[in-house]
Amino acid sequence: MAIDLYFRGVKKIFLPFQYLQYLMRAKTLHGTHSAFVYEFYQKVIDGDHEYYDFAPIEHLRSMLIQSDEEINVVDFGAGVVGSTKRKVSDIISKSAIPTKQGRVLFRLANFMQPKTMLEIGTSLGISTLYQAKACPKANFITMEGSPETAKLASKNFQLLKATNIKQVTGNFDETLPQVLKTIISLDYVFFDGNHKKEPTLNYFKQCLPLAADNCVFILDDIRWSPGMYSAWQQIIKEPNATVTIDLFSFGLVFFRKGQVKQHFTLKY
Ligand SMILES: C[S@@+](CC[C@H](N)C(=O)[O-])C[C@H]1O[C@@H](n2cnc3c(N)ncnc32)[C@H](O)[C@@H]1O
Repeated sequence: MAIDLYFRGVKKIFLPFQYLQYLMRAKTLHGTHSAFVYEFYQKVIDGDHEYYDFAPIEHLRSMLIQSDEEINVVDFGAGVVGSTKRKVSDIISKSAIPTKQGRVLFRLANFMQPKTMLEIGTSLGISTLYQAKACPKANFITMEGSPETAKLASKNFQLLKATNIKQVTGNFDETLPQVLKTIISLDYVFFDGNHKKEPTLNYFKQCLPLAADNCVFILDDIRWSPGMYSAWQQIIKEPNATVTIDLFSFGLVFFRKGQVKQHFTLKY
């Protein structure tokens, strides 16, 4: 409770300050002089095409928001001390990616056309569906530690006939090294699991040696806490991370051989 109050206090001051700073730095397409970033902005940020897959995913979200079902959820933030019952509607409202960001993930995956995709943090599978539906031919691995959450996500994937998703259930600390041993290279990784500095840097460092040329790593909630922001600042400095883009909540890292290292803060 005391920790919760502390975080709420930190967020109240940290977020408005961060938002102001972001607005002052953020550029539009006209302030962008990189051909790659220009194309990315046009297709991913400015894109407004209503893809066929958007409506079924949002319909699923509304069904889950209206659900009375409760499931047991393991709390990894507290060091796996057991599980608590939570309403599915509450999980969806608090943890699932918002519509606008889900669409950005869809367009980004569509733009990058990755073959091997990894998501760290499935929850009930809303973000998984946005990304996997954009690339139906890709091998999509999604990881979740809470067994009943993963089971319900699996039902959601079946409902929306998303057949290219492979689920891995268990604590990332154990499952991530095992999963990475089975992969030759990564084209796309979405980090949306443990929103703390050390675990985020740890997962990033584990995935880094497998990053293919033209790969993208996406970090969600880079301003969730001062610790997450500090992890993002450290990640920007990674020498192989040639193009890094700050979209306020998402941090994007592109690995592009031969490109000059540059950082962008873009309006979104
Ligand atoms: C923010 S939610 C993911 C939301 C999802 N990507 C979406 O947008 O719909 C993070 C998920 O990561 C899982 N998680 C957090 N830490 C974990 C850990 N150490 N091992 C396994 N799962 C973990 C939580 O159970 C939770 O379901």
